[in-house]
Amino acid sequence: MNRRKFLTLTTGGLIFAAGAGFAHRITRTPNTALDPWVQAGSLYKEPRMKALSYAILAPNPHNRQPWLIDLSSPQQVILMVDTAKLLPHTDPLNRQITIGLGCFLELMTIAAAQDGHRVDLTLFPEGEAAESLDGRPVAVATFVEDESTPKDPLFAQVLNRRSLKEPFDLQKNVADSVLQAATEASRHGTLSGASNTDESVARLRQLTHEAMIIEIQTPRTYKESVDLFRIGYKAVDKNPDGIDFTGPLMETLHITGQFSPSVALDTSSAAYKQGIDAVLKPIDTAMAHIWLVSRNNTRADQINAGRDWLRLNLTTAAAGVGIQPLSQALQEYPEMQNHYNQIHTLLAPAGGTVQMLARLGYAAAVPPSPRWPLTDKIIS
Ligand SMILES: Cc1cc2nc3c(=O)[nH]c(=O)nc-3n(C[C@H](O)[C@H](O)[C@H](O)COP(=O)(O)O)c2cc1C
Repeated sequence: MNRRKFLTLTTGGLIFAAGAGFAHRITRTPNTALDPWVQAGSLYKEPRMKALSYAILAPNPHNRQPWLIDLSSPQQVILMVDTAKLLPHTDPLNRQITIGLGCFLELMTIAAAQDGHRVDLTLFPEGEAAESLDGRPVAVATFVEDESTPKDPLFAQVLNRRSLKEPFDLQKNVADSVLQAATEASRHGTLSGASNTDESVARLRQLTHEAMIIEIQTPRTYKESVDLFRIGYKAVDKNPDGIDFTGPLMETLHITGQFSPSVALDTSSAAYKQGIDAVLKPIDTAMAHIWLVSRNNTRADQINAGRDWLRLNLTTAAAGVGIQPLSQALQEYPEMQNHYNQIHTLLAPAGGTVQMLARLGYAAAVPPSPRWPLTDKIIS
């Protein structure tokens, strides 16, 4: 779901007799939810904390930020998943959550290298949870001071990286050279493909559009998103995660009762109908697509797909091109099976699992998305 522009309702007539207090409130932006983007790298000197202050900026499904961090062993980061932050309906196998954890580990590793530390990673030291993730460690990362560790040029993009959920400019094509750079970003064994041909763009626009409709029209998968709606700056500051809606229009609709989780769940409401249009429009403006495929689908493969996705996302940031994952057709629930099969036939004809699929194009820059402070994620 598009967190930044779920609704395109007009405010005309709403701000009747708006007093100064009202005007002040609707123009407020989150106070604290974006602080981690400003504080990254500067709050802590301790190498693990410094690297982790960047890692929490990693992309992750529905911005659930499902990471828990144990620092009780010197020089080690033990990463665990917060099982209260899984997405059982849209991500029943926890595949996407695991990809997000891979993004976190790659970002931590890139940030540590920038600070003269090598990170030795052991994935799932107590075994992989094949069925569903559990409380066992996802990774043990050992930080080793080693000035010969190569710095990664992608570090320069960490604070610029976004998932860009706005419609793209239909007049601006995505050059082959951009696609080539993005597909060459993988370092962890994930295969990458991309296309900007009219035929491919039309086919993938159609499949991703249909898949989004299925997700919205399946009550339990739609509700899973709506339950994570954070509407208005106060809600976003209180819970800096999930799907955030801020800005004057959202504040107004929220204050006047025209947009709330219960209104969004009411399929007869204007908000519901216009919300569907607003999430389909960006999908229909894809100017190119890119995808990651892994040969197998173990937890380690999913972590590696996440590591490669982070690199790909940083590479597109360097190229100044917008990117938005469109995961609906990759999701493993019965209503999506047909589209899942079609996407796999198209993008992984030789077999394997399509781990990520995204649209590319150009749009105006957007602010970063909210994050919980690092200290909220440290359990020991
Ligand atoms: C595995 C995975 C799946 C995702 N799927 C979607 C998606 O289907 N639609 C979407 O708009 N964003 C998707 N995202 C992007 C997240 O919503 C985004 O990373 C998160 O909201 C944080 O925002 P940021 O990437 O701009 O920091 C996905 C990200 C990951 C890692």
